[in-house]
Amino acid sequence: MSVYALIPAAGSGTRLAADSPKQYALLAGRPMLWHAVRAVCLPQVESVFVVLAPGDSAFAAHDWSAFAGKLEPLYCGGETRRDSVYNGLVAAMAAVEADDWILVHDAARPCLPRKDLDTLMRETQNDAVGGILALPIAETVKRAAEGRIQSTEDRSRLWLAQTPQMFRAGLLMQALQRASQVTDEAAAVEQLGLSPRLVAGSRENLKVTWPEDLAIAESILKGRA
Ligand code: CTP
Ligand code: MG
Repeated sequence: MSVYALIPAAGSGTRLAADSPKQYALLAGRPMLWHAVRAVCLPQVESVFVVLAPGDSAFAAHDWSAFAGKLEPLYCGGETRRDSVYNGLVAAMAAVEADDWILVHDAARPCLPRKDLDTLMRETQNDAVGGILALPIAETVKRAAEGRIQSTEDRSRLWLAQTPQMFRAGLLMQALQRASQVTDEAAAVEQLGLSPRLVAGSRENLKVTWPEDLAIAESILKGRA
C-alpha cells in the first residue's frame, strides 16, 4: 500500500484578517502552504494533493519547484474544511487505492516537526482504524456560561486534536460521505463507531489562527533553518 498527503488550503483565514488568504501569508520568505507541503513531502509519500478554492489565483504566482513531480493542485475546495477534504479526496481517488493511507494536514500547521510525523506514521501504520496527532491538555479547563465559570472540567482525559490525521482512503471516504458537519477527519470516523488512535505530538505543531500566531510560527521555522 502507498501513502499520500492531502492538504485542505481553500479557507479564507477570517480570524487572521490579513490581505490575502492565510495559506499564502509569508513565513520566512515562503507562503505558509509551502511549509505545510514541505512538512509532509517525505520520500515515502507518493503525492501531495493540495485542495485550493476554485477561483484561487495566488497558488500559481508562487514557486513550487522544490516539490516538482509530487505536488498535485486540485481546484475543488468547498464551503467548509470538511467539504474541501471530501472534494479533494474524491478527485484524488483517481490515483489512490482504498487501502492506501491518506495524511490529511492543514495548511494552517506549517511547523509540523518531522519527528511528530514519523511517530504518527510508525504508530498508525498497523492500526485497523487510523490515528491522529494530538496533545494532552496542559491547562485547567473551564466551562463557561455568560462570561462566568460554570464548572471545571476533568482535563485528564482531554486532548487537543492536531493534524496530520492518518486514515485509509476508503474508510475516510465512507466516513466523510456520512458526516457533513465535522471539523476533523477523526470526528467523521468516530461517527462510524470507530476509535482512532491518539498519538502524542508537540506544541510546535501549532495551528496558525490569530495574527499573533504568525510571529511564533516564523520564529520556529527560522530557528530550524
Ligand atoms: N479550509 C479549506 N476549505 C474551507 C475552510 C478551510 O480547505 N472552506 C482549510 C484551511 O485553508 C486550513 C484548514 O482548512 O488549511 C484549517 O482551517 P482554518 O485554520 O479554520 O482556516 P480558515 O478557515 O482559512 O480560517 P478561519 O476559520 O479563521 O476563516
Ligand atoms: Mg476555518
